[in-house]
Amino acid sequence: MNLADYKSEFLNYLNKEIQIKEPKKLYEPIYYILQIGGKRLRPILTLISCHFFKGNYKNALPAALAIEVFHNFTLVHDDIMDEAPIRRGQKTVHKKWNLNTGILSGDAMMLMTNKLMEHYNNDMFKELMVLFNKTALEVCEGQQYDVDFETSKDVSIEAYKKMITYKTAVLLACSLKMGAIIAGASKNDAQHIYEYGLHLGIAFQLQDDYLDTFGNPETFGKLIGGDILENKKTYLYLQLLKKISEEDKVSLLKWYRTKEKSDRKIKEVTLLYSKYKISELVKKEITKYTTIAYESLEKTTIKESGQSFFKKIGNELLNRKV
Ligand code: IPE
Ligand code: MN
Ligand code: MN
Repeated sequence: MNLADYKSEFLNYLNKEIQIKEPKKLYEPIYYILQIGGKRLRPILTLISCHFFKGNYKNALPAALAIEVFHNFTLVHDDIMDEAPIRRGQKTVHKKWNLNTGILSGDAMMLMTNKLMEHYNNDMFKELMVLFNKTALEVCEGQQYDVDFETSKDVSIEAYKKMITYKTAVLLACSLKMGAIIAGASKNDAQHIYEYGLHLGIAFQLQDDYLDTFGNPETFGKLIGGDILENKKTYLYLQLLKKISEEDKVSLLKWYRTKEKSDRKIKEVTLLYSKYKISELVKKEITKYTTIAYESLEKTTIKESGQSFFKKIGNELLNRKV
C-alpha cells in the first residue's frame, strides 16, 4: 500500500464513524471541521507505524481517528484563541457558527477522542491512554506557552523550542508510538519511533512558522501573515531580533507593540525578515531536525524499505505548501 491508500482507508473509516446526529448544532461543526480536509498526517502516521512494526493497520484505525479528532479539536479552540478567520481555506468554526458553538463542539470532540480509545482493551488500553493523556496535557502546556509568549518581553530560542515541542511535536510522536503499541512493538522501537516523530514535528512546526509568512496564499489555507498580526514570537521573529540593527529594531518593536491588523504591518515585518535573510536560517534549522529524526528512525528495527517510506513522508512534509 502507498500513502494515498492509507489515506483513503482512513477516510473511509472517518466517513463511517463521523456522522451528523442530534443535536445538529453540536455535531454539524464537528462534521464540518473533519470534512473540510487537512493532510491527515497524524492518522496516517499511526497506521503506517502499526504496519511497519508488523501489526495489522486496521487495528490502528480507531486510534488514528482518535488522534485526528483530537487534533481537530485543538484547532477549533486554537482558532478561537488566535481569532483566526480561516482554516483550510474555509471559515473557522467560531466564524461560521459562533463562539459558544466552537467551545462546546470542541469539548465534545475531546470526549469523542476518549470514546474511540474504548476500542482497545486491558493492558493495551491502559498503555495507550497513559500516552495519550500525557500528550494531550503537554499540548495544553505548549498552547499556554504560546499564548504567554505573545506578551512576554524576551523569549529565548530554547523556550520557543520547548513550546513548539509541546504544542506540535509531541502529538506527531504520540501518533507514531500508538501505532507501535498497537502492533506490539518492543519498548525500544516504540521509543525510537517516538523520537523520530518528535524531531520531525519540530521541523514541521518550524516550516509552519515559515509558511505563515512566506507561504503561497493560494495554497496555504490560512491567512498569510497571521502570526505577524498576532505578534507571535515565532522562530523567524526570534532570529530576526538577534540579527537586527538598532535602527530596524525600533520599527520592528513598534509594529509588535500594536494590535493593528493591517496589510502594511505584514508587509513591513516581512520586509525585515527578507532583509536579514531569515528564511535561510529557518531552512537550515529544519534540515537539522529532519536529520536527527532520520537518525532515530534508523535506530528502529524497521526494514530499509519501511524506513524509506517514513523518509518520503518527511521529505514531502518539508517541501509542503500547506
Ligand atoms: C496550533 O498552533 C496549536 C494547537 C492546536 C495546539 P498554531 O496556532 O501555531 O497553529 P495554526 O497556525 O493556527 O495552524
Ligand atoms: Mn495558536
Ligand atoms: Mn492558530
